[in-house]
Amino acid sequence: MPAMTVNDRPVFFDMDPDTPLLWALRDGANLTGTKYGCGTGDCGSCMVLIDGAALRSCLVTIAEAEGRFITTIEGLSRDRSHPVQQALVAEQAIQCGFCTPGIAIAAAALIRRNPDPSVEDIREAVPNLCRCGVYPRLVEAIKRAGRVSRRRETISAAPAPGIDPEDAARVVPALEGGVTPDNLGGAETED
Ligand code: FES
Ligand code: FES
Repeated sequence: MPAMTVNDRPVFFDMDPDTPLLWALRDGANLTGTKYGCGTGDCGSCMVLIDGAALRSCLVTIAEAEGRFITTIEGLSRDRSHPVQQALVAEQAIQCGFCTPGIAIAAAALIRRNPDPSVEDIREAVPNLCRCGVYPRLVEAIKRAGRVSRRRETISAAPAPGIDPEDAARVVPALEGGVTPDNLGGAETED
């Protein structure tokens, strides 16, 4: 039963150890913010932070993730206050939004290690595919997120979520710590 920390909570996946982390997160832990795009490591829509590095969760098994610290888009911030999230909204660098969670994860990892990235740094660190073509706005958003993280700029808070955080936690039980094998068929958490 591979064990790891997901969004600051211990999680045990009662699943085949060869299960891709992507499917364990989505189907076992109900953390559906992490998206399935290609399943072959090409698109980046499935990116999560593993020990702080943005990695493609479709290419990592839960056995390989054993003992690691995983952060999904749900855990990046609980109120959309992460500079990358604020800047993506402020720069309107989102169209359909399918690629956005993976991009936010990749950008967050970049900004953390390099809060003043060049365009080349951004292109290298955020190789994610976007079928809507938000790339020009994305570069501006990530540079702006860097300025926010360096305290050179502030961004007005992003619009409040359309759902109360407590209700969101019930919809996404892994955030609440209420995951059981009975209601999700795969993941257990401990407080
Ligand atoms: S779904 Fe993992 S890289 Fe596309
Ligand atoms: S915003 Fe639609 S795929 Fe990127």
